[in-house]
Amino acid sequence: MMLFLAFTLLLLSDAAASKSIIKSLPGFDGNLPFVLETGYIGVGELEAVQLFYYFIESERSPKDDPLVLWLTGGPGCSALSGIIYEIDALHIRKGTIKDWRRCNKTLAYSYNVESTVDYHRNLTKKPYRSLIYSGDHDMTIPYIGTHEWIESLNLTIKYDWEPWFVDGQVAGYAMLYADNVQDYITYDLTFATVKGGGHTAPEYRPEQCFAMMDRWFDYYPL
Ligand SMILES: *[C@@H]1O[C@H](CO)[C@@H](O)[C@H](O)[C@H]1NC(C)=O
Ligand SMILES: *[C@@H]1O[C@H](CO)[C@@H](O)[C@H](O)[C@H]1NC(C)=O
Ligand SMILES: *[C@@H]1O[C@H](CO)[C@@H](O)[C@H](O)[C@H]1NC(C)=O
Repeated sequence: MMLFLAFTLLLLSDAAASKSIIKSLPGFDGNLPFVLETGYIGVGELEAVQLFYYFIESERSPKDDPLVLWLTGGPGCSALSGIIYEIDALHIRKGTIKDWRRCNKTLAYSYNVESTVDYHRNLTKKPYRSLIYSGDHDMTIPYIGTHEWIESLNLTIKYDWEPWFVDGQVAGYAMLYADNVQDYITYDLTFATVKGGGHTAPEYRPEQCFAMMDRWFDYYPL
């Protein structure tokens, strides 16, 4: 399990305006088996907007692991499903909630970002590493569409489609793109498909996706 910061915030947890360590949750017997902090954090100069966050400490090596910012985008609930179902940080057990719906589609959100490709393009000019994955059975956002916008970034291909393996079986295919952003400093982007994965890939292929993340955090090839 890695280090997660969910629900849209940018600063380290110490900077949060209000925070609580959550020891137990309704429907879960005993203390939580991981460190969970929640709170609100202000954004913008006046911190007028207060964002709610979950901070889940890495169960791997909190000192060494990167801080992962998990932003829930829209318009659906895929990213929230990601943290609750895919990464398995929180377990919602049958019978503990009367009317559990994964996605409430009646919330009145407005659409103000048409495309995030320009943001991604700007990020490619910085010394970052990125991992983008797609379940190859995802018919909501098929991997070929994701591949197409990645190609539009015009990055240099370091290796083209190669299989990656878990337990000696092909778990998907991956490409690596990389470009220098300064002398000896690169931006790199790994694009991986997850064989047999649906829209929320790790929900379908937890073992494979866990191996993928673990290797990537450790700078190993997938
Ligand atoms: C969905 O959101 C609407 C608007 O906030 C609310 O009235 C409704 O109770 C919510 N439904 C569920 C199942 O949470
Ligand atoms: C990308 O960077 C350029 C140049 O700094 C800037 O003008 C533009 O607004 C940025 N685009 C986004 C979407 O942030
Ligand atoms: C990528 O390369 C193509 C072909 O050379 C060019 O038409 C396009 O404008 C480039 N896009 C970017 C974002 O640089």
